Amino acid sequence: MKLVVTGGSGFIGSHFVREILATRKGWRVLNVDLLTYAGRGRNLADLARHPRYRFARADIASAAIAPLLARERPDAVVNFAAESHVDRSIHGAAPFLRTNALGAQNLLDAARAARVARFVQVSTDEVYGSIPGRARAREDAPLQPSSAYSASKAAADLLALAARRTHGQDVVITRCTNNYGPWQFPEKLIPLMITNALANQPLPVYGDGLQRRDWIHARDHCRGVLAALERGRAGEIYNFGAGTEPPNLRIIQEILRILGKSAALIRYVADRPGHDRRYAVDAAKARRELGWRPAIALDDGLEETVRWYREHPAWWLRLKDAAFRAFYRKNYGNWATGKTGR
Ligand code: NAD
Ligand code: DAU
Repeated sequence: MKLVVTGGSGFIGSHFVREILATRKGWRVLNVDLLTYAGRGRNLADLARHPRYRFARADIASAAIAPLLARERPDAVVNFAAESHVDRSIHGAAPFLRTNALGAQNLLDAARAARVARFVQVSTDEVYGSIPGRARAREDAPLQPSSAYSASKAAADLLALAARRTHGQDVVITRCTNNYGPWQFPEKLIPLMITNALANQPLPVYGDGLQRRDWIHARDHCRGVLAALERGRAGEIYNFGAGTEPPNLRIIQEILRILGKSAALIRYVADRPGHDRRYAVDAAKARRELGWRPAIALDDGLEETVRWYREHPAWWLRLKDAAFRAFYRKNYGNWATGKTGR
């Protein structure tokens, strides 16, 4: 099996590449990644000499992709590449549309031309928008994205389904809930709270902090994507979720407890515009058809994750560079006066 994995230098993609190389002995992986601020060669540095791993730097939205896939002729493409941070999409939507929507279309076209047998589009539960009450979104729930990020991911899903209908292309779509784990860029809730707490910096909580997310370990998500690649039905969508939905504040308090830090670090800041209150998916179809189940309990995964960040300060300190600090100032503004940069 020859796989092209896009976005393999990012958080979840790097877990996926490791999972493939560890568990699928004859498989070869070409990681195609643009290495944006969120994608770091270092995430997979230890694989540089692996005999079944290669890397190509390329933009999935560019003209380089068609010849690359024509040369490579992989059996499957798994598309993780994306602009992935909701807050950044509020400040500027253009890169999200370019990579997430146009990039997905460009990859779909190139994969079809190269006669790639299967295309897996890694999507997100955010395409369903906020889920009220105790409901859980099934795969046929309406698409109600709230941000330019989730709208661009929904566009990619629709483009993949259109390629299925128009061209009979073999596509499978996965929609997972919030991931956490080692190697996550420290702009998302869990790594930001861990790294800020480690540095005794304030922990910015949007609004009342009672928004709920269904946290799943990235390795569980990757096992789901692999199951969809191997056993998913063409043209189908599969939700993945762990079925937990603690409010954000509970996650933050747990991080502070593990680190032995004070709750005085918590700072309530202005809410994220268009903030979805609750995400929850019904993952019964993935359990039934793919035989997939999450294996890592949130308590254990969170302990492991906090430990990983505590043991790898060099990795995340380097990521909190001048560009990160500029984004941080723009996003969170001046807490002392209660103003925000939005
Ligand atoms: P990430 O931001 O950590 O990584 C994205 C990767 O894509 C980076 O390596 C980046 O360099 C690469 N990339 C960006 N633009 C590119 C382009 N134009 N061409 C090639 N490569 C490009 O993101 P992540 O959190 O690992 O998410 C991976 C995928 O999973 C995304 O598609 C995201 O929508 C989806 N997803 C994420 C979550 C989550 O909780 N993080 C949950 C469900 C689904
Ligand atoms: O649900 C899947 C999605 O999960 C993925 O598709 C996205 O790529 C991923 O970024 C994530 O989106 P969220 O917006 O839910 O994740 P984030 O970590 O940014 O925020 C999680 C919750 O924490 C959300 O309710 C907002 C809140 N939050 C976040 C940050 C960064 C804060 O209260 N303070 C913060 O500083």
